[in-house]
Amino acid sequence: MRSVCFISITLACIVSQSLYASERKDPIVIAHRGASGYLPEHTLEAKTLAYAMGADYIEQDLVLSKDNHLIVMHDIYLDEVTDVASKFPDRAREDGHFYTIDFTLPELKQLRVTGPFVNVLGKKVPKYGKRFPLWHSQFQLATFEEELELIQGLNQSLGYNTGIYPEIKKPYFHAQVGRDISRAVLQTLKRYGYTKPDSNVYLQSFDAEELQRIHQDLLPAMDMEVPLVQLIAETDWEEKRVQQAGQWQNYDFDWMLTPEGLKRIAGYATGIAPWYPMLINDNGTESTLLTEARKLGLRIHPYTFRADPLQIPGSYRNFDEFIALYVDLLQVDGLFTDHPDKVRRYLSTRRERQPREEIFP
Ligand code: G3P
Ligand code: CA
Repeated sequence: MRSVCFISITLACIVSQSLYASERKDPIVIAHRGASGYLPEHTLEAKTLAYAMGADYIEQDLVLSKDNHLIVMHDIYLDEVTDVASKFPDRAREDGHFYTIDFTLPELKQLRVTGPFVNVLGKKVPKYGKRFPLWHSQFQLATFEEELELIQGLNQSLGYNTGIYPEIKKPYFHAQVGRDISRAVLQTLKRYGYTKPDSNVYLQSFDAEELQRIHQDLLPAMDMEVPLVQLIAETDWEEKRVQQAGQWQNYDFDWMLTPEGLKRIAGYATGIAPWYPMLINDNGTESTLLTEARKLGLRIHPYTFRADPLQIPGSYRNFDEFIALYVDLLQVDGLFTDHPDKVRRYLSTRRERQPREEIFP
């Protein structure tokens, strides 16, 4: 796995970039799983808070239920954000996981949702320290339709035009059980009016072959022109598995980091969403990925910026300094963040700050 090596931002760079920061358009703020730094991820409550915090786009990770409803949740498993193990103890598969696709929507609605947790010595421990307390209050899983109606309803009642940023989760997994999740996502987008490049939607996936299929076949057949974003992962994250010589293996993502790979991506996608360390080399220079993507005119939306103390890389003194590098120096076009209020605040105050104040907050 790539080593997470972060550069120290030189004062000179920040000064020079700050001088013309005010001339640039702000990058878009993408609420990663909602305002997930404050409320359980992907709940309608977390999405409402993200909306109120001024996110430009709100993200939906999507998986299918047994009865073909699109459920907004990050994993194909229910294990780490719900009480499925106590409500349906006999429904785990042999690998120990409870799969969303094995449950109907009425069953999924019985589950209680909480923030992500991990099991440590048989005890459930929050994945991100001091966020919203585990199991407090009452939260439910939501369908894609419910969330679109929430965001569109708020757009009408408040008068903003907040966008959506759905991700098709693991098309290869859904295909194994005969499901076409991409078609289901596009059908829902079309039903809710997200059909054109200016419909305030980006559609993302880690699966390059599936995005090409969407670009070449599904979108034209459905008379849609939704902009696509290629997510880029480390190969060992298991975002996609493929069969080679009868063996299941991790899909190799490395081609996406090359100039040729990016040219290929530019043939079907409007942008890329890389893990943020991929934009910087270990010696502090900008990566080939960043340079070449910019040359090709691809939008660059790195993930995921978290303000929890343990999630800010050690070479930054605070969250503002962390995102300053990506906003002002690398000049990305958008950021996925669990803390949309903090990114929004940084963007709105940086224009007023003098370079000296930005260096010494
Ligand atoms: O989709 C952007 C970012 O969310 C990718 O990572 O694993 O949180 O879906 P993940
Ligand atoms: Ca995602």
